[in-house]
Amino acid sequence: MTVSYKELGLVNTKEMFKHAIEGKFAVPAYNFNNMEQLQAIVTACAESDSPFILQVSNGARNYANSTLLRYMAQGGAEMLKTMNPHLKFALHLDHGDSFELCKACIDAGFSSVMIDASHHSFEENIETTKKVVEYAHAHDVTVEAELGVLAGIEDEVVAEESTYTRPEEVKEFVERTGVDSLAISIGTSHGANKFKPADCTKNSEGVLIPPPLKFDILEEIEKIIPGFPIVLHGASSVLPVYVDMINKFGGKMSDAIGIPEEQLRKAASSAVCKINIDSDGRLAMTGNVRKALAENPGEFDPRKYLAPAREALTSMMIEKNKNVLGSAGQGKKIFG
Ligand code: G3H
Ligand code: 13P
Ligand code: ZN
Repeated sequence: MTVSYKELGLVNTKEMFKHAIEGKFAVPAYNFNNMEQLQAIVTACAESDSPFILQVSNGARNYANSTLLRYMAQGGAEMLKTMNPHLKFALHLDHGDSFELCKACIDAGFSSVMIDASHHSFEENIETTKKVVEYAHAHDVTVEAELGVLAGIEDEVVAEESTYTRPEEVKEFVERTGVDSLAISIGTSHGANKFKPADCTKNSEGVLIPPPLKFDILEEIEKIIPGFPIVLHGASSVLPVYVDMINKFGGKMSDAIGIPEEQLRKAASSAVCKINIDSDGRLAMTGNVRKALAENPGEFDPRKYLAPAREALTSMMIEKNKNVLGSAGQGKKIFG
């Protein structure tokens, strides 16, 4: 059954990105795979009045069942109405790897899709992105594409080193594809181990400080395509509080290093208008599930250990919306 996102009460990313650029904030894109993550995202963004993008990877579709996931997102939209009636969100495919997958999501009610052909040649990337844009725009769905390759894992593709986005390619890419936003590679990467300790410096308290993002590349891109929405993937901060909690309660994570929050604040006040966060949510949930189970070893009711994880995730996202992305309080200005 084909359904338009408009019937589900969702929006595409156009208006929110326009406001994000003008208002110098970034819209959070939070990934979800299950009910507790969905509840946390909707609750946190409703409470902080933040526009948001509910993000679904192909892995999430396979994990949760693509039909169920679409109804869960619709349920999220209905839940949101009861909590913050003017607020709306976009349902977005994260790292779509083919036209067919993007089409299936658009037909199932997604309001935004990413086609990630960044690991192919420039010409192939343009060709695939253009095909997705043509179908998406016929349905008023917005499209994100990527230029440059992030280090680490992007779905099934693994890259040892980042290939930074080449500013000289962005204008031609954007013009020939008609894409609505562009993910760039400036030093972020997916997962919890974004930098090697050997590549970091130590501050006076012995805390590892990773090398800064390539803001020079970002500034050059902004000059070439002024006002065009830029997206940052791999933007979790890998908060030590949750890594420590995981390790304290039986986990084993080493060399977990993320993007410092000040750098994300700086990016959010530029043309970066979408910031992707998945790993931080995973860490907050895992840390709190481990803690709850370790402190209550006899507990076997999943609600008892998932509820504190869900609360921690909600608080973390409110904090990010308020103090890192600057998206808190923007909902009324966009949709009010
Ligand atoms: O960029 C990747 C996202 O964090 C989604 O990860 O493919 O394991 O669901 P996943
Ligand atoms: P993190 O792994 O840094 O959370 O990045 C998530 C992401 O980019 C999803 O597309
Ligand atoms: Zn990503």
